[in-house]
Amino acid sequence: MLTESERYLKDKKMLRTLSLLANRSRGHQQLYQKLLYSIGSQNVVASRTAASDNPQNLPPLPVPKLNDTIEKYLKTVKPFLDEKEFINTTALFKRFSDTNGVGNKLQEYLLKKAQSTTNWFEPWWLDAAYLGFRKPVVVYSSPGQTLPLQTFKSESERLNYTTRLILAAASYKILIDSKQLPVEKMGKHELDMNQYNKIFGTCRIPDLPKDDIEFNPRSKHIVVAHNNHYFKVNLFNENGRLLSEKQLLQQLNNIIVQSTEPAVSVGILTSDDRDNWAKAYKILMQEEVNQRSVRTIQTSLFLVCLDSPMEYTTEDNRRTSAGKQLIHGGGSNANAGNRWYDKTVQFVLGTDGIVGLTYEHSPSEGGPIAVMVDYIYQFIKKDGSKDIPDGDHDQDPIKLPFKISNDLNTAIATAKTNIDKLVNNFELNCFSFDKYGKDFVKSQKFSPDSFIQIALQYAFYRMHNVPGAHYESAGTRKYLGGRTETIRSCSVESVNFAKAMLDTKINNAEKLAALKAAIQSHKQYTVDAVNGYGVDRHLLGLKLSAKEMGLSVPEIFQDPSFVRSTHMRISTSQVATKCDGFMCYGPIEDDGYGCCYNPRDNDINIAVSAFASNKDTSAKQFRTALENSLVDMETLLIKTQKAKM
Ligand code: COA
Repeated sequence: MLTESERYLKDKKMLRTLSLLANRSRGHQQLYQKLLYSIGSQNVVASRTAASDNPQNLPPLPVPKLNDTIEKYLKTVKPFLDEKEFINTTALFKRFSDTNGVGNKLQEYLLKKAQSTTNWFEPWWLDAAYLGFRKPVVVYSSPGQTLPLQTFKSESERLNYTTRLILAAASYKILIDSKQLPVEKMGKHELDMNQYNKIFGTCRIPDLPKDDIEFNPRSKHIVVAHNNHYFKVNLFNENGRLLSEKQLLQQLNNIIVQSTEPAVSVGILTSDDRDNWAKAYKILMQEEVNQRSVRTIQTSLFLVCLDSPMEYTTEDNRRTSAGKQLIHGGGSNANAGNRWYDKTVQFVLGTDGIVGLTYEHSPSEGGPIAVMVDYIYQFIKKDGSKDIPDGDHDQDPIKLPFKISNDLNTAIATAKTNIDKLVNNFELNCFSFDKYGKDFVKSQKFSPDSFIQIALQYAFYRMHNVPGAHYESAGTRKYLGGRTETIRSCSVESVNFAKAMLDTKINNAEKLAALKAAIQSHKQYTVDAVNGYGVDRHLLGLKLSAKEMGLSVPEIFQDPSFVRSTHMRISTSQVATKCDGFMCYGPIEDDGYGCCYNPRDNDINIAVSAFASNKDTSAKQFRTALENSLVDMETLLIKTQKAKM
């Protein structure tokens, strides 16, 4: 008789073989799926046997040389300084990095830290960027990600789709646990796959002065939210077998029947700023019944939000409406209370066919989320859940009760006011730029990502007439525990290009030369950033080293060069899905833009955001400026090519 561990390994080997064969024959596909759904029970063994801090043998995140960072930094701040300011800044940074300067002491500290930790930056980043960040996660931190939008003509169509989506996500969880995900690569380098392990079962826990994060990867249940009520659904039974489509659909129908009237929206508390929420949380958790319900939500694999109908403004197209529904749920009168924003993944299904998720950013970047979304979409399309056999389930969904005190009611009222203000202040414009996509840019021998980034620079400059400090996320997952580095997309070259395009006296050949220089400069920075040699993470590391050493914050961090070059008026990232989806999020600064894009072969899905309270910015106008910039750049390339012929 085989031991549990031997059986697991045998099944896993068979699973791998079948996964290859599944592409070829329907019979193999069915066998593959059956084995897939039953292997979930054995993932406890998997995680124990594969236990290793560095199973992929990835290199550690490097600490750049101090002088290299300073030199690079000085280059990036030029667009934001006049000549005299630049001379002062150069002198200040040279003093900082002198042999006797404080920079060298901090660098020494950092190098020692790097030797004694698996990733010198990751814990700092988790606290600085996420757990210690006190603004609401809604709009300010948690992105929305759409799946291709659907049309639901009835509640039963929505519930059918929801069932398939839940089972697709469950099957992805099984793939993660059984280590079946293909390892991603950047060039020949493997990427750290550990963020995938944190997608399901993870929850942020509000606290003062900073939040905490909790992982429950072995959880077997999900929570379904409807009309602000929460229900526990056991997705896997004790033996790890998954509910079948029919069984799950029954549970969803049962939930709808049990929650026809809206409940008090406890969940809206999670949309408030983190200090307010942390204080309300303490009150909420005084009651045992609340503790049990909250713990069930926190330890679930993920949330499924069956939303109420939304009112859309006439200005918004469907993509924009979808983005808003995913980011903020439309406020207190719509679906903002039908959430638990601390959960890493909340799938959202609107009555009209808006489908996607909102994700809490702390444990993972957008890349793994996008890969999962492609899988889920394909799984649904191929009807992957219909072969799941009935499991041994006899439990109905369990409604999670709450006891609401007067103090909690006050906190809920405050949270409602705050989310409604935020919703009214948030501008979003989502669209598909369909004139061309990656293929055209590649045919011109340019990097598509750098090309789009330079278009964003040009769009900002043509609208505001000043250089815009510009953040792009670069993934550093080629290193163990790697997260991101900032690509500083605003450069002397990007500003020169924008100016050249707007100057009617400059000819096309010169404009093209300016475009090439701008793209080249961006590409070079990208290469440095993905290799861990940008400037921002290193400088933050030095600043936090000073704090840990009990030293005062070095002068360089108050310098105008630092203040201006880190006031990121354009906050961007590329999150690519093969399916027709996109990610969207809010700006970092009050006078800034958020812009997430998905460059596909022949189109680019783009989401632009801004704050209505700022009179200089407008998501709608930025969209137009960006579309015009992309068209101008295409025209320039076509005209200069024709001129050569
Ligand atoms: N000529 C022709 N083709 C080119 C080219 C050129 N000069 N330069 C690049 N290409 C090709 C590439 O080979 C690649 O081809 P593929 O589609 O067959 O793979 C394609 O164009 C795309 O490359 P490029 O546009 O240069 O960018 P990228 O895909 O390498 O992405 C980053 C760049 C910075 C976005 C990426 O490295 C990264 O870090 N991604 C993670 C971002 C992130 O963290 N986002 C989430 C934040 S929550």
